[in-house]
Amino acid sequence: MPQLTDPRQRPRLALLISGRGSNMRAIAEAVLASGLPIEISGVISSRPEAEGLAHARALGLPTQTIDAASFSCREDFDAALAAALRAQAPTLIALAGFMRILTPGFVTEFAGRLINIHPSLLPAYRGLNTHARAIADGARLHGASVHAVTPGLDEGPVLAQAEVPVLPQDTPETLSQRVLAVEHPLYVQSVMAVLAGRQRLVDGAWQSFPPHPGFESVGFSARLTASDLGLDAP
Ligand code: GAR
Repeated sequence: MPQLTDPRQRPRLALLISGRGSNMRAIAEAVLASGLPIEISGVISSRPEAEGLAHARALGLPTQTIDAASFSCREDFDAALAAALRAQAPTLIALAGFMRILTPGFVTEFAGRLINIHPSLLPAYRGLNTHARAIADGARLHGASVHAVTPGLDEGPVLAQAEVPVLPQDTPETLSQRVLAVEHPLYVQSVMAVLAGRQRLVDGAWQSFPPHPGFESVGFSARLTASDLGLDAP
């Protein structure tokens, strides 16, 4: 497994989106405000109409679209995405609302450098419609997970989770808003911790290490609650 960050170089972060891009924006704004020596190598969208592209441009970030609709098969899209990422030479690739299932070949090439945020407390509710499924099950707790990407859908080792309560009157929409509010700080701290070298994937498990010089200010918590984040439910 490659070491995720070389302390002698500025770590480079690539962000992949498909839509609204609010997680990408939270991460990019935090990186830009942090003063840490992190380079955002680019934002790549799988859809030309993704709202997040305009937000990325407004932040002055390089953007690129690889339109999934113009490829006839998954392998060809992933080959184009892999070529674009090779050119960016990222230390870490953060999937932020990137609604594509990646082929095993792609995941293998970038193994150890791919992380994703998923709107559930994994291993519960892999796949889509997580909020509606949690409500239908009568779940009392729900949340979001940041995990390494492996060939199995939403199956990679979990780096960090944030939990929120499910309230009796919740709809999928109200619950998704409560989860999204914790996704942003969860994903920001997770990306920072990996780029800082504090968290590394070693033999398929996340392990803690001292941060690289210059990244000592980066904190990390593997489990966050809404109240830790000052986001108590109404
Ligand atoms: C987020 O809730 C993210 O967890 C989810 O899509 C949303 C994207 O929002 N991702 C998945 O469901 C991946 N399977 P955003 O575009 O505003 O960041």
